[in-house]
Amino acid sequence: MPNPYHYGAPATGAQFIGRRGELEALLSRMRAGVNVVVMSPRRYGKTSLLLRAEELLAAGRPRAAVVSTNVFLCRDVATLAARLVSGAYRLPGARRAGARHGLADFVRQLQVRPTVDFDDAGRPRFGFSAGLAPADADTVVADVFALLGAVGDRPAVLVLDEFQAITRHGEHLPFLLKALSDQHPMVSVVLAGSQHHLMSKLVVDEGAPLYGMAQRLALGPIPDAEWVPYLSEQARRAGKPLDRDTASLILELAGPVPNDVQHLAFEAFEVAGSRVSPAEVEAGMRRAVDHDSNLFAERVTRLSPGQLRVLVALASGRAEHIFTAAFARQVGLAGGQSVKKAIDALADDETVVQRDRRWRVGDPFLASWLRRAD
Ligand SMILES: Nc1ncnc2c1ncn2[C@@H]1O[C@H](COP(=O)(O)OP(=O)(O)OP(=O)(O)O)[C@@H](O)[C@H]1O
Ligand SMILES: [Mg+2]
Repeated sequence: MPNPYHYGAPATGAQFIGRRGELEALLSRMRAGVNVVVMSPRRYGKTSLLLRAEELLAAGRPRAAVVSTNVFLCRDVATLAARLVSGAYRLPGARRAGARHGLADFVRQLQVRPTVDFDDAGRPRFGFSAGLAPADADTVVADVFALLGAVGDRPAVLVLDEFQAITRHGEHLPFLLKALSDQHPMVSVVLAGSQHHLMSKLVVDEGAPLYGMAQRLALGPIPDAEWVPYLSEQARRAGKPLDRDTASLILELAGPVPNDVQHLAFEAFEVAGSRVSPAEVEAGMRRAVDHDSNLFAERVTRLSPGQLRVLVALASGRAEHIFTAAFARQVGLAGGQSVKKAIDALADDETVVQRDRRWRVGDPFLASWLRRAD
């Protein structure tokens, strides 16, 4: 039996649980042309939620028109433009039936000509030269909005995942999106991203280019009441029972990040014989830490000695009032201000996160590794 848990890439099918309220909120807005920004710390399930929403929209009648891309994965603005055009090509109603004919029709609607070649299955692939001028890239984005705006009596949605990377492709792009969104009010623009401060600067803060243009949807943890039956049921079906206490231990050790819960469950299932019990969860934790120990070692070499001492103290769980002179002394820093600077630096890539008003090591496996080394 294959391992029934899944981590590292979006959760789909039976591995997608909960999020009913969030899904409903997202879908109703997508259908109504309302913009949404989906935000959470890393690995909470933004992409999983978007994919599920897109799947449901595609199954609806009339089928929704959705163009979706991951901004971070586009190496330059030409790639971003090409992906948007490829998405637009697949829109219902964007071209006449019949491949070649439809293709010529479609390309005629674009003001900037893409290059076209065909994959093995004969499907067209669009491209733009790497030197695509910024003004031309803007025109492509505008054309894609226009195509979405013209799909008629069906929901029209533009999904940009990892939106925090957008300014890599042009500082002005958030402003352009705002203008195009105003021009096409029935197109729902859905932006998702982590790195809170970046998303804030783009969407949430007063004065941000996209301020006020989107409904905010913040993803929190998945409740234990969703996890416990999932963890037990997946294990039972895969032939190794796992009881409630064991499920609770997984949740306690992994913490609130869904990816970490699935990761620990995966490791515990791997080491288990005929059933998964607390001993296997502990062993699974050790294995997960072992697997990543080189990575952790490399990661901490990039920290300053002060940052590392703060991190070790947070991992120990004994650090409570950390912006005090006493704590600063404990970690060999000059004072509360220096602790603050160290925390800011560590929070930048979510190495440390604030939960329940307390700073903690974000990754439970890194925390365990640090305790081991302490
Ligand atoms: N609804 C869910 N049900 C079960 N597991 C989930 C769910 N959402 C997320 N996960 C777990 O979290 C992992 C990461 O999910 P996903 O890639 O969607 O998160 P993300 O917020 O997009 O992450 P990133 O910030 O890295 O883009 C999945 O592989 C899965 O293990
Ligand atoms: Mg994602």
